[in-house]
Order: sequence, then structure tokens, then C-alpha cells
Amino acid sequence: MTSEAATGTDAAPAEGRAPAEGRAPGAGDLMERIVGLCKRRGFIFPSAEIYGGFRSTYDYGPLGVNMLRNVKGAWWRSMVQLRDDVVGLDAAILSPPKIWEASGHLANFTDPLVDCRQCHSRWRADKIDGVCPNCGSTDFTDARPFNLMFKTHAGPIEDEGAVAYLRPETAQGMFVNFANVLQTTRKKPPFGIAQVGKSFRNEITPQNFVFRTREFEQMEMEYFVPPEEGMKWYRYWVDERYRWYRELGIAEEKLRIRPHESDELSHYSTATSDVEFLFPWGWDELEGIAYRTDFDLRAHSAASGERLEYFDQATGERYVPHVVEPAAGATRTMMAFLLAAYEEDEVGAEPRTVLRLHWRLSPYQVAVLPLSKKQTLEPLAREVLGLLQPHFMCDYDTTQSIGRRYRRQDEVGTPWCVTVDFDSLDDRAVTVRDRDSTEQVRVPIDRLVAELGDRMPT
Ligand code: GAP
Repeated sequence: MTSEAATGTDAAPAEGRAPAEGRAPGAGDLMERIVGLCKRRGFIFPSAEIYGGFRSTYDYGPLGVNMLRNVKGAWWRSMVQLRDDVVGLDAAILSPPKIWEASGHLANFTDPLVDCRQCHSRWRADKIDGVCPNCGSTDFTDARPFNLMFKTHAGPIEDEGAVAYLRPETAQGMFVNFANVLQTTRKKPPFGIAQVGKSFRNEITPQNFVFRTREFEQMEMEYFVPPEEGMKWYRYWVDERYRWYRELGIAEEKLRIRPHESDELSHYSTATSDVEFLFPWGWDELEGIAYRTDFDLRAHSAASGERLEYFDQATGERYVPHVVEPAAGATRTMMAFLLAAYEEDEVGAEPRTVLRLHWRLSPYQVAVLPLSKKQTLEPLAREVLGLLQPHFMCDYDTTQSIGRRYRRQDEVGTPWCVTVDFDSLDDRAVTVRDRDSTEQVRVPIDRLVAELGDRMPT
């Protein structure tokens, strides 16, 4: 039933009627609106803003940190928790040059850098089509390779022996721990090692908000397989990863798989496909699924002198596994989920902004809203909040009119609002309001956790 009280004088006009069909704004506008919303509502702030910002770095605010954790959690759930063939790892970010020598990053992890002779700005040659975005000149220096790794020193002496790198990908942590994981878990190929964490690249031109930044988070998994099964698992992971984005709400028309041309392949890969999203500026990469063969294990084995292979005791067979790697960006993916979820529609002839995020990704799953600020509702509203908090991430908001508070929750993607009104004091029931349909139903408080749980099946 619809709650009288929650749809009464304090509610937005005609709240509860199905909203008018939503639409996403045009591409340029959409980007601007997402950046604005992220700042205004506490998803993403420019880093060190009070000092004028710092070189395209970003901080994740109270809502952003929830959402980013949810993106990473959804990935971990699908890649590790729901599988018995993948285990987790959390390797160090600071790493010795030997790792990056062996992996080929010291020699090959470069972008082509050019200087504009007119205005002296520096650009990544493959991103500017021969025209300086700053002054329009076409007069550049020859391209030279620029290594993207951040170099630092570990310890108090800044000499060559103390050189360390911030990892530019999480992947190598999995390769150098291959033998440790094999011994401790007794896994047998096919099996995977998954990791989520920060990576650092000294990008020549960071751009498009958090799409390309110098500090970002990755979600990567190295799947070790018998060599003859490499292509089979490569195709399997391309399908699996595409499915993950679809299940979390990205529409089919905004998602595609793009196999790499042979001249695009990384130095370690024989086949790669990207999962691409239709960003406001066009199709661009969300994730790469690469068939890395035995490149990394062989390289680390040769450089370290350690045997990095699998010995099958049953058959007496010994081999270096091949690797298929789904490598996604957590921060970039969060931005894609925000862009895909953004809509503007009308509810009761009032415009609203709504993020139609999957409930697994929303910063809050539930908002508890006492209908009025009057003290009489506070104890029951807090009791309801206390009941829900162990199960769901909850917001609690007592400011402004109920209609305004619904709009505020819609704008940050909260799928369900629970309104405690004056009737609740007598009937111990509350109104549950659905973000997408704006439909409201009355639910007894002692059924509330189960009712919301049904809407968020594990
Ligand atoms: N281990 C393989 C690897 O790192 P990658 O394609 O360079 O492959 C994987 O990176 C994913 O990491 C990309 O698809 C992207 O989502 C994310 N990523 C890479 N560089 C990034 C950057 N500068 N800023 C944000 N995300 C980035």
C-alpha cells in the first residue's frame, strides 16, 4: 500500500506516480554533469584542492569511497569468492628494478613523447593526430620513448642500489609469487591469482577526469593454464568479463569487445581483446583480456634462477603454464558505471537527476528518512536505522522536505528509501520507496530486513 503520511503534505507532488521516461544528456553535457555531481555530492574531489589541485590526482569522498569499494567488492566476489579456482593476493607496491627488468617494463613500458616547437608543451604523439592541442602547431620534435614508471629510492641513501619503482601494474606481483601460491594452496592449473590495488604510471597526458590518471586502481587476475588450453581460456575470460559488466547494469549498446590488431599488442601478448565502453568521447578501453603465454613466468625464472613451473605428481609431467589475464581498472570502471547510470527524468512534473546504479554498486543501499524533524519520530527512526545497518550500507537524513530528500537520494543512486512517519509510531510499519519506479509500499518493521534482502539477493 502507499503510505498516506509519506505522500502527504511533506512529500513531493504526485511522488509515487511512475516517472516520465528518463534520458541521458548529450555526450559533452554528460561528462560535465558527472564531474559536477561527483564534486557536489562527495564522490570525487580534485586532490590537494586547497593548494590548487595536484597534477590530475583525485580523492574519493564519502560517497565515492563507498562506491569504489563496491566496484572492487563486486569484482572480488565474481572473480574469487564465487570460484574455487582463483585465490587472492596483496603484493607490495614498492618493487625492485629486477622485477621490471625481467618483465620488460624498463625497456618497453614507454609512450612516444613529442615537444611542440611552437609553445613547448609536451604530448603523447599517438594521441594528438599531429596537431598541438595547445596552440594548433604541427611542428614537433621527433618522438622519443618516455618510460611511464615512477622511480624512487627505498631507504635513506639515494644511490643506484636503492632505486625502487612504484608498480605500474599489479600483475607482476602475481608472477613473482607464483611458486609461493602454488606451494601454499596446492592448486593445479587451470587456476588463478587475483589482486586489487593501486598502480602508478607517469602518464604524459592524463585526461578525461579519472579515465586516465597517474595514480589509479586495478583489478587483475592471472589465470595459469596448461599451454595447449591457452586460447580456450582466453575466449572463456573474454566472455566472462563482458558478462560481468552487463550484469552490473551497463547496457548492451554501450559495451563491446574489440580484438587488438597485431601491431597494437603489448610486448608480452599474442592475443588481446578489450572490453570497451561508449564514453562521451567515443569507444574506449575498460579492460584488456590478454593471452600472455608463458612470457612472464619464463622471464622471471631466467632472471631469478627460480623454477617457475608446475609439476604434476600424478603424471610426472612438468611444464611452464600459460597465462590469460583479465586486467581492469577499478577507478576507470567506476566512472563508466556512473556515466551509464546517469539519467534525467521527471517525477510529478518536477525534474530529477537519477543514478540508476545496480544496488551492489550504489554508495548507499538504503536511506532512512524520518518524515519530519520532530523529536517524536527520532527514536523509532534510529531504531530502524540500527536494524538495517548490520545488513546494508545506510544513510540517515533528516534535512529538508521528504520530496527533496528523495531527490537527493535519487541523485546518488540509493535504490531504496525507508520513511518513518507518524503512523509508524502506531502500526510499527514504514514506507519503502523504490528509486526507479518511485513506487511506495508499506512494510512492517519486523519484516523490513527480509523485505529489503529479497530485493538484494546474494
Ligand atoms: N597487466 C596488464 C595491464 O596493466 P593495461 O591495459 O595497461 O594492462 C589494465 O591496464 C587496465 O587498467 C586498463 O584497461 C584500464 O582500465 C586501467 N588503467 C590503465 N592505465 C590507467 C590509467 N592511467 N588511469 C586509470 N586507469 C588505468
